[in-house]
Amino acid sequence: MTPFLITNTTLSSSSSSLYLSFLFLQNPKKPNCLTSHLTSHLNCSIQDNVSLSSLQQTLTLESKNEIERGLEFQTGDSFFRHESAIGRDLGVLAASLYKKSKGNLRILDAMCGCGIRSLRYLVQAEADFVWANDANEEYRGIIVSNFEKEVVRETEKGKRRWVVTHSDANRVMAECYLKEDFFDLIDIDSFGSNSTFFRSAYDCLKFDGLLYVTSTDGYSSGGHRPQHSLASYGAYVRPMPYSNEVGLRMLIGGAVRDASVLGYRVTPLFSYYSYHGPVFRVMLRVIRGKLPENKHYGFISYCNKCGNSQTFLWDQLGKICCHCGNEEDSHSTVVSGPLWTGPLHDTTYVTEMLNLAQQCRWAGTESNICMDLEKLLVTMIDESDPKLPFGYIKLDQVSKRAKISSPPLRIMMSALKKEGYAVSRSHIESNAIKTNCPMTMCTKIAKELQQL
Ligand SMILES: C[S@@+](CC[C@H](N)C(=O)[O-])C[C@H]1O[C@@H](n2cnc3c(N)ncnc32)[C@H](O)[C@@H]1O
Repeated sequence: MTPFLITNTTLSSSSSSLYLSFLFLQNPKKPNCLTSHLTSHLNCSIQDNVSLSSLQQTLTLESKNEIERGLEFQTGDSFFRHESAIGRDLGVLAASLYKKSKGNLRILDAMCGCGIRSLRYLVQAEADFVWANDANEEYRGIIVSNFEKEVVRETEKGKRRWVVTHSDANRVMAECYLKEDFFDLIDIDSFGSNSTFFRSAYDCLKFDGLLYVTSTDGYSSGGHRPQHSLASYGAYVRPMPYSNEVGLRMLIGGAVRDASVLGYRVTPLFSYYSYHGPVFRVMLRVIRGKLPENKHYGFISYCNKCGNSQTFLWDQLGKICCHCGNEEDSHSTVVSGPLWTGPLHDTTYVTEMLNLAQQCRWAGTESNICMDLEKLLVTMIDESDPKLPFGYIKLDQVSKRAKISSPPLRIMMSALKKEGYAVSRSHIESNAIKTNCPMTMCTKIAKELQQL
């Protein structure tokens, strides 16, 4: 990394390589944006604390140029992960669809790091306005310089496109709520299992707005600290073989719980797990109304004896047992919850995201850092088949039970389909399947395949 000296001159300079990279990666007819129109700009009531004097300050930062989907930026010494690019892609695609359908897009990026996410929302999703906030004031120089290179701070009509602040995310949202300053999309890219942001985010989100939340708490989703998951998300989580899906369900369940206190209902548009971190990300749509009869918010059980899982609603508490008849061994069934037990993705929305990714040529761009976006979205669509239950079955679990070597994934999938079961890959585990076939039948089919 080379030291980067920020001066007045470097902040206002533009680079030709930047321009070329745009042309290469974006739609040539409409460089650098995903939506087809930018209709209106919103007035911004808040005070921007970006001051020219702070820009004119000369700062020495460790920095290097990065490019993500054609946008050039610098990270300085902010927290930045290349591996999170897919999570940012998904956010930008959802934001673009929102802008297309509603005509307006006002975003709060509550934990913006170096500002790449905000920048992508501004440029690629054509957000009318982005409020970029990060508690760390030392990132200011790098965030502002990234923005200044790409997006005017104010339109010719005097409407603000962006502001940068440095405050606690909850404080920003609480102040916005008090000023009745509402957002279409709030992105909270937090560390750990901090669910304290849900409540304040709901308060300053527009109805039918989007909330993009994150957890990086793999210990809790693995069932290794149930008291912690209970405190954060209201869910007592035990070890289960599909713990990374449980992590997504725990996050959505926590959001459902906090929303219902306010009389709101949230449903996931997509849910994404990435093993880097690990990171659990969910895009939620927030509407008025309660979840009907607590449908999709309940308990899941896993029987260690037979390997099958079930869901239980609240009125079935006390009656939880496995159909396999091994209940006499009280240790065989583990129960976690309450969690989100409904679909992880909205098929229609993810299909639209896929179409958009293909239009802007983001599909088919696998790298050694990130999974291919197209593959991911296609798998999410497959995973949303309503016939598929929650959880997934790792093929090494099947082989262990069947006492054979692991069957190839494709062959196992087509054998299950032939038997009339629903089956898909899982975006969470590469060597796992989602299926409505019971474990005992999976092991039987795997044994038969072995004998062919
Ligand atoms: C995961 S990083 C953000 C990365 C960034 N969103 C990206 O896509 O590159 C989390 C950021 O949250 C900031 N942060 C941590 N706690 C915060 C809080 N309570 N309020 C606001 N920002 C916070 C940290 O300074 C850090 O930059």
